[in-house]
Amino acid sequence: MVRVEPSGVEIEVREGETLMAAATRAGYRWPTVCGGLAECGTCAVQIVGEPSAALAEPSALEADRLATLPDRKLHPDAEFRLACQMRPGPGTDLVVRKRGVRRAD
Ligand code: FES
Repeated sequence: MVRVEPSGVEIEVREGETLMAAATRAGYRWPTVCGGLAECGTCAVQIVGEPSAALAEPSALEADRLATLPDRKLHPDAEFRLACQMRPGPGTDLVVRKRGVRRAD
């Protein structure tokens, strides 16, 4: 389960699914410009606290995009991930901060 702050939206992520894909499947609109290609950085989330299980390290593609995030430069001690690339897995409890996640309808 991933909880998104400050909205409090809770999203179940299936095995192998990205956080953004899980949110879309659950009927939420996740901020994006590139549609999930790791090009825009718009989907980025800040990890809040410790996840209940280890998250896989970012791929080279994700890491390259994360390196250019303006938020990362503003908050160098915070951990950011791309919702369109990270796959937290169904057994992971995680809280992320992301504004703009809303019901699609
Ligand atoms: S949606 Fe564009 S980088 Fe994730």
